[in-house]
Amino acid sequence: MLLAKELLLQREKSNYTASFCIINEDLQKLSKRLVCLSPSEYAYYQNLRFDKRKHSYLLGRIAAKEAVMALSDKKLNYKNFFVDFGVFQFPVVKNTAQNIQVSISHCDDYGVSLAFPEDHPLGIDMEKIDHDKAHIIDTTLTSHEKKCIKANFVDVAEGNTVFWTIKESLSKIIKTGFTTDPEVFEIKSIKKSGNQFICDFKNFYQYKSVSYTANNYACTVVLPKKTSLDCHNIWLSFESVVRSKN
Ligand SMILES: CC(C)(COP(=O)(O)OP(=O)(O)OC[C@H]1O[C@@H](n2cnc3c(N)ncnc32)[C@H](O)[C@@H]1OP(=O)(O)O)[C@@H](O)C(=O)NCCC(=O)NCCS
Repeated sequence: MLLAKELLLQREKSNYTASFCIINEDLQKLSKRLVCLSPSEYAYYQNLRFDKRKHSYLLGRIAAKEAVMALSDKKLNYKNFFVDFGVFQFPVVKNTAQNIQVSISHCDDYGVSLAFPEDHPLGIDMEKIDHDKAHIIDTTLTSHEKKCIKANFVDVAEGNTVFWTIKESLSKIIKTGFTTDPEVFEIKSIKKSGNQFICDFKNFYQYKSVSYTANNYACTVVLPKKTSLDCHNIWLSFESVVRSKN
């Protein structure tokens, strides 16, 4: 199953268009989509030794390429553009002529991606809510974050996982990845708005995050604080894909 949706990013003086894609397929099914890879992506894929990485690579690349296609002027051909790696392993879209970039996350059989104009970065992360992992995440949280989680989540494992996705998404939008002290990414405040959680950061005050959970998975989008984005379509697609497995 694959869903792609266009998104409107509204700023005070300008608007931008972005897109979201989520895919849920096992490796066998994804292999039928190898024709979507460019020659360099295919060569990289062929050199991968382990099925787990082949799977995550295809989930990420197919979600990213479909998100780019949803955003592009439709003259693009799947094989002619590609998602390369930057020096810190961040994705770099090449050959689209439109300065489109992407953020990617993969988890189990799911791949998610946001495609956006280079002028307006976005970050995404998706994780399974796993009680064992949540204990490990707990060791990375500040006492302030633990208080926020206690006050806003009935299930601490859900809260810990949401906070983890927020920090990973932030680390993607700034392209460093999680290579620094997690306290640098400290979450300053959280508020619930409908079924989503909106947070901001102690140090990265230019950004905010919007998070959602469904069927034991958490997903977060990080975006510039002064941008308005109606995430309804993202969460509808996310929810219908993660629930379709039941
Ligand atoms: C980048 C990072 C946050 C990704 O989070 P994750 O939960 O492991 O994996 P996700 O599935 O959510 O995201 C993976 C995607 O993030 C993207 N990514 C990787 N490094 C990135 C960076 N520096 N900036 C932005 N995006 C990045 C890639 O597209 C990657 O998918 P791909 O390898 O198939 O292209 C994390 O791996 C990290 O911090 N890595 C750097 C530190 C490191 O290497 N640690 C070793 C393990 S402790």
